[in-house]
Amino acid sequence: MNPLVSAALAARENAFAPFSKFKVGAAIEDAEGRIHSGCNVENATYGLTVCAERVAVYKAISEGVRRFRRIAIAADADALTPPCGACRQILWEFCGDIEIILANLQGKTETYSLKELFPKPFDVSYL
Ligand code: THU
Repeated sequence: MNPLVSAALAARENAFAPFSKFKVGAAIEDAEGRIHSGCNVENATYGLTVCAERVAVYKAISEGVRRFRRIAIAADADALTPPCGACRQILWEFCGDIEIILANLQGKTETYSLKELFPKPFDVSYL
């Protein structure tokens, strides 16, 4: 299995999702080939929940990483789980048009570019 998908599946095991019970894992590969993983972390207020993708990106950013190649997102769903709108914005601003690999527990995968999922992003170029 693709090591990035394996890392996303492993991170999913750590998901803190007592409210939705929907566990998600993400793993992002940086320009040096290092992998940074994350899981969703829910909150009793619901609104403070953070998605797996943002946890992975922010972990990498906090380690000084600024260049990324691709991200894998894993959940237990036949219809593969795409990143939410907020995560698409964060991915665009920190990673640009990276490759996005969606995966489930059966090993099904689909690959997209971020631009396909988020065709007209707002970013610093508009400021
Ligand atoms: N979630 C993610 O972590 N990533 C996604 O791409 C979609 C949604 C989480 C947020 C929440 O904890 C749960 O899945 C249900 O929305």
